[in-house]
Amino acid sequence: MPDGTQPRQTNTLEPYWMPFTANRQFKAAPRIMVSAKDMHYTDDQGRQILDASAGMWCVNAGHGREKITEAIRTQAGVMDYGPAFQWGNPGAFDLSARLTNLFPGDLDYVFYANSGSEAVDTALKMALAYHQLRGDARRTRLIGRERGYHGVGIGGTSVGGISNNRKHFGNLLAGIDHLPHTHNLSEMAFSRGQPDWGAHLADDLERIVALHDPSTMAAVIVEPVAGSTGVLVPPKGYLEKLRSICDTHGILLIFDEVITGFGRLGNPFGADHFGIVPDLMTMAKGLTNGAVPMSAVAARAGIYDTFMQGPPHMIELFHGYTYSAHPLACAAALATMDVFAEDDLFNRGKALAPVWEDAIHGLKGLPNVIDIRNLGMMGAVELVPREGAPTTRAYDVFLKCYEKGLLVRQTGDIIAMSPPLIATEEQLGEIMSILAEAISETE
Ligand SMILES: Cc1ncc(COP(=O)(O)O)c(C=O)c1O
Repeated sequence: MPDGTQPRQTNTLEPYWMPFTANRQFKAAPRIMVSAKDMHYTDDQGRQILDASAGMWCVNAGHGREKITEAIRTQAGVMDYGPAFQWGNPGAFDLSARLTNLFPGDLDYVFYANSGSEAVDTALKMALAYHQLRGDARRTRLIGRERGYHGVGIGGTSVGGISNNRKHFGNLLAGIDHLPHTHNLSEMAFSRGQPDWGAHLADDLERIVALHDPSTMAAVIVEPVAGSTGVLVPPKGYLEKLRSICDTHGILLIFDEVITGFGRLGNPFGADHFGIVPDLMTMAKGLTNGAVPMSAVAARAGIYDTFMQGPPHMIELFHGYTYSAHPLACAAALATMDVFAEDDLFNRGKALAPVWEDAIHGLKGLPNVIDIRNLGMMGAVELVPREGAPTTRAYDVFLKCYEKGLLVRQTGDIIAMSPPLIATEEQLGEIMSILAEAISETE
């Protein structure tokens, strides 16, 4: 009998069941990164790979920032772990003060988790509990959006709008509905920044509210810019309408800022960029520059206050994680906030955005390119799908990019990019010239 000490497989790549990966294809031709510094990865062949996607939308300050590394190292030597429930660690309080100063409006409180998925499920649970505590327990309905990505928890999967992510997992949560997505090639292809067309798509929320009755509605969750399904930029006026409809009907608005947070749009948050204060705001990724898993939910003061009732010895929110506000993550996040400030990175993102816009729109006219879109330091190039073989064209472009030393993300027939905010104008040019070659060489 195997006792677990003998590897069952001879292929050393085999035992790792990789997430969101075509395991068999990958293991036949692996892409393995072994180190990273500034704008580049180094792969196991010793090749330099220019990072056009900040890892997975998270390394906003570039790789291997010494200040962050040092903070993690130091904290590990001082206190490795601190119990999260009924105990605190100094970094958690320092970080909360720091973050709430950065948040817009009266988002004055912050709750910690470890991933974007956990932050989303936390925010959804907060919304449900908030209404219940206010004596409005019928408000249980959660509204997401088609093509939305809110991670992989059952809550996030349920409000998410990606069929492949949903279809294998049964009925998911009950009481969910979805807004239509905002992407329409015939109306908005090749828009620079926010498309002029499409604000009326937010009116669908009125339809959904009328269908289910406002008294059953708990929260609407959207990404200010949908990232994972290929940088779907909200039409002008669309998010403002969502905010106003939510206000009219007493529905909480949740912005999922896991990608758009921490400078991606040239402001601390997408909420700042659009001038809209959500009721709850999730964040992760850039919070620690990707160096230690950490996520958070920001809550408006009125929401926190609603929980602070009943006998003071009672726990107000029966929710949390063993690793909420982990000392290493807090240290990494505090150092990350220092780096953002010292390098003035949010303003740098803002200054680079027009350069990025010109660079990416320069790909117009290349074979099979049917749309190019951008906002802040996010951008995507959409390709016409191959007849009968959707996604394979963009995958081939993604592979060619890697062969040529460029890391991009592929989603469907879309190449999505979000370079670290430290990128130079020359590096943005380099990204586009490699991508242009890859697109041109792909049938
Ligand atoms: C908007 C959004 N929400 C949630 C998540 C899930 O984050 P995680 O993979 O850290 O669970 C992501 C990940 O890309 C995301 O883009």
